[in-house]
Amino acid sequence: MNVLVTGGSGFIGSNLVRLLLAERPEWRIVNLDKLTYAGNAENLADLEGNPRYRFVRGDICNGELIADVFRTEKIHAVLHLAAESHVDRSILSPSIFIETNVRGTQVLLEAAREFGVRRFVHVSTDEVYGSLGPTGLFTEQTPLDPSSPYSASKASSDLLALAYAHTFKLPVVVTRCSNNYGPYQFPEKLIPLMIANALRDLPLPVYGDGMNVRDWIHVEDHGRGLLAALEKGEDGQVYNFGASSERHNIDIVKQVLRLVGKPESLIKYVTDRPGHDRRYAIDSTKARTQLGWAPRHGFEDALAATVRWYVERRQWWERIISGEYLKYYEKQYGGR
Ligand code: NAD
Ligand code: TYD
Repeated sequence: MNVLVTGGSGFIGSNLVRLLLAERPEWRIVNLDKLTYAGNAENLADLEGNPRYRFVRGDICNGELIADVFRTEKIHAVLHLAAESHVDRSILSPSIFIETNVRGTQVLLEAAREFGVRRFVHVSTDEVYGSLGPTGLFTEQTPLDPSSPYSASKASSDLLALAYAHTFKLPVVVTRCSNNYGPYQFPEKLIPLMIANALRDLPLPVYGDGMNVRDWIHVEDHGRGLLAALEKGEDGQVYNFGASSERHNIDIVKQVLRLVGKPESLIKYVTDRPGHDRRYAIDSTKARTQLGWAPRHGFEDALAATVRWYVERRQWWERIISGEYLKYYEKQYGGR
């Protein structure tokens, strides 16, 4: 089977490409990625020369290129991850989120319709459901109520994907996962940013009162969920993935500091994110019962392993924390 992974050079995509090559030895993987600031060819550099893997640098909004990839690679299935993925950047510059996440998704759906695929997995997020109060969980029936330009663009793309399933009978499955952590995550997201700052004795910027809650899942568990959705999902269905590991942000930050042996005096409370969602928490019963999926990683051990990865791979993140990233960091945190 020939599988197109979009955004395979990003955090979840690069972990997923490795997982697929290991778990499905008969599959060939084509990774199409624009290599934006968040994409890093180095993440999969060791796969160069592997006959079961091809990298194509390109934009999902480029219809001609996408059609060419479907035609020449005879794509049977798509795992669509390419996106602008960071809420804070979507608050600073929303337009690119609409372009990539909404229009880019439609270009891919159209190509999948034209050339025909057995499965189109549209990789979305629990953020499309908006914010929860202190109790309750997101189920697949929870109404969409996105609050940031990022989550609104993802919700829009979910609706487009489901419309293609409904109207054109495209075999679409939509997945909605909670916050991921693990190796190769760009250090603009909470956990790697806190690790990288702590290791350099820089302030750890905690938004608001630090009591916002996220439900954390290891990136490999998400990847296994995507594989299960591809192989066992039902056309037109939505599946939530989460590992039932709700944590307050401030507790994660303190845990990171303990793991790297740095003092809590590095914590700096900063002005809250505008429109900051208070709590996310996932009910993944449907994926567990219908896809036979379950997370394998416990949060405490997997966080410790993630911190060790960033300690040992300091070169990886130090190289990418330069140039464009420094400008972003100043814009995001400078006046706070
Ligand atoms: P990421 O930002 O690390 O990676 C995104 C990748 O997409 C990068 O390699 C980038 O170069 C590529 N890309 C961006 N625009 C592109 C374009 N126009 N054409 C081709 N490639 C392009 O993101 P991630 O955290 O790996 O997230 C991947 C997907 O999973 C996204 O769709 C995101 O919405 C979803 N998701 C992420 C999380 C999370 O916690 N990180 C949780 C649930 C869902
Ligand atoms: P993030 O990793 O950006 O993921 P998302 O907003 O998609 O959930 O942020 C996770 C949580 O951490 C969120 O509540 C915002 C908070 N946060 C901080 O407190 N400080 C930071 O510097 C960052 C990046 C995030």
